[in-house]
Amino acid sequence: MIYSDKDKRFKRYTITSALPYANGPVHIGHLAGVYVPADVYARYLRSAGEEVVFIGGSDEHGVPITIKARKEGVTPQDIVDRYHGIIKESFKELGISFDIYSRTSSPEHHETAAAYFKKLFEEGKFVEKTSMQYYDEEAHQFLADRYITGTCPHCGNERAYGDQCEACGTSLNATDLINPKSALSGNPPVMKETKHWYLPLNEDEQWLREWILEQHKGDWKTNVYGQCKSWIDAGLQPRAVTRDLDWGVKVPVEGADGKVLYVWFDAPIGYISFTKQLKGDDWEKWWKNDDTKLVHFIGKDNIVFHCIIFPSMLKADGSYILPENVPANEFLNLEGDKISTSRNWAVWLHEYLKDFSGKQDVLRYTLCSNAPETKDNDFTWKDFQLKNNSELVAILGNFVNRTLVLTHKFYEGKVPAAGAWGELENEVIKEMAGVPEKVGRSIETYRFREALSEMMNLARLGNKYLTDTEPWKLIKTDPERTATVMNLSLQICANLAVLCEPFLPFTAEKIRKMMNLSDGLRWHDAGNAELLAAGTQMEKPVLLFEQIDDATIEGQVNKLVETKKQNELQAWTPKTVKETVAFDDFGKMDIRVGTVLECTKVPKADKLLQFKIEDGMGTRTIVSGIAKFYPEPEKLVGMQVCFIANFAPRKLKGVESQGMILSAEDKDGRLVLITPSQMVTPGCNVG
Ligand code: MF3
Ligand code: ZN
Repeated sequence: MIYSDKDKRFKRYTITSALPYANGPVHIGHLAGVYVPADVYARYLRSAGEEVVFIGGSDEHGVPITIKARKEGVTPQDIVDRYHGIIKESFKELGISFDIYSRTSSPEHHETAAAYFKKLFEEGKFVEKTSMQYYDEEAHQFLADRYITGTCPHCGNERAYGDQCEACGTSLNATDLINPKSALSGNPPVMKETKHWYLPLNEDEQWLREWILEQHKGDWKTNVYGQCKSWIDAGLQPRAVTRDLDWGVKVPVEGADGKVLYVWFDAPIGYISFTKQLKGDDWEKWWKNDDTKLVHFIGKDNIVFHCIIFPSMLKADGSYILPENVPANEFLNLEGDKISTSRNWAVWLHEYLKDFSGKQDVLRYTLCSNAPETKDNDFTWKDFQLKNNSELVAILGNFVNRTLVLTHKFYEGKVPAAGAWGELENEVIKEMAGVPEKVGRSIETYRFREALSEMMNLARLGNKYLTDTEPWKLIKTDPERTATVMNLSLQICANLAVLCEPFLPFTAEKIRKMMNLSDGLRWHDAGNAELLAAGTQMEKPVLLFEQIDDATIEGQVNKLVETKKQNELQAWTPKTVKETVAFDDFGKMDIRVGTVLECTKVPKADKLLQFKIEDGMGTRTIVSGIAKFYPEPEKLVGMQVCFIANFAPRKLKGVESQGMILSAEDKDGRLVLITPSQMVTPGCNVG
């Protein structure tokens, strides 16, 4: 039973979470945006006694996958096998409780997606259109989506793709790009005729308007509603649902050789085909019965596909229900920067699980309490540490631990019988009674941060109760009341085990085990002080959470600093060549070779080295700002360097410098002395 559907309009829940592309591992942005909230929702509904299917799987088609395979010299299947494995395993370890985690390269999916297309095709639901599209004559291939790059007409980004500009987020057609280039050969493409099938979204405007903009006004999140409205208001265009590619679901009609379904046509059908894989003949009620509630968890970049295109596909078939809600989240940033797979700017789930073994719930907690529900949000390692140390350890862990330790100390671990509740107890019990509904209603309305903090308020209440009653003192003067206090504290712990489970399943399990709670306890059992019978034996308490120290956090931050450096190096390009100069201008420079006689640090100037140079006419002093790169200056003695001999002398930190030593500046900013490839006579000219 859920609180917001008292008349039980819905008998079952089909919960989907966006299928991640199997061309890279999953990161914290995916988790905070999609999988953690979806999992909280699914776990809560199960606990509340509802029938649920929670569907996940890998999206294994699309151009980025084939491009990556080409780069690495492997097949697309190799790529998706690798990442599907990593993703599936890491989700499982984090406790994302999918009822099935499948993949779109599976034969069952191909069959379902092809049949879906075929039915719409036969019913005349597509428009067939021949058009001119970009083609690479060298690679003998049409250039769909990301196979074409060029300059974005909106923001000038030179690396925009044929389907989208990632810099400004605009969705594009390949023909919008300025200076289009093939991602295969780098050549400018030619135009060639090709035939495709289009979903006539322009005919769907009327019912979409009614369904989203009227019926779901107020219950869909403002960010979702807003995006839909601006798409619909801008006027919907027919959308091609096939592509000239060889990786994907083959178009199952005659005259479609070399064509596959567009990845955004086949992937959402994955939700359906995976349900079939899971439920067999019983699958249809999950997709076709009006008393099924369909909810799609996605990130904001998927809104149009789940709110407009997929519903239009469902409607075109005619036998499916439409989503009740599409609670899309905004994006999570990392330490102030946009998460990026290609720039490796991310915290990868599989790496987190290695570095923080056994701390799945810490990540779940941090991401849920920081979920980008209404605006983009930032993940920082400092905040992660703070949430662990001052919330999980100090509030939840501390309360449960204190309670169990005292129970062992006073009662050999057996739940003491409570006497009559006093006034304080009645207040605590009353407050506790309201918590399941508060948390539940927040989850039901997709306010997961609020739900989490309501749950933590119960732990806060428990801590406050212990602090107010001080059983460690009370035991000496009033053992009877102490038993009551301890009984109630234990009841609160048991309630927490039930109520934290959607968010912190590993912690819930630990508490259940320590307290010998029955596996059968469910959401609606919580909210009272009768979960534990007097006399029940408690096990020895284990710590629920541990402090995370500064060194651990610094380690993670340093990893990111390293990534940033790598990225800057990779982004390096030579400076543009300066303006042309006359040969005579160059001739004015007197560049010579000299031999280093002495080299020392300039006192009180950490950047400067002072050279004494044999220049063929005598010696001269030159000061150079390269100390950082030559920490042992005495080693330069005997080496030959090039210097400009006719610069006017100038004083640097009190030393007169008679010229300038030449060095090359490498891409990381390192200065390297220029030296002749063989020893020459000091004072000879360079030119
Ligand atoms: N792979 C897509 C992405 O990561 C999401 C696909 S969701 C589905 O953006 F609906 F197509 F399954
Ligand atoms: Zn742009």
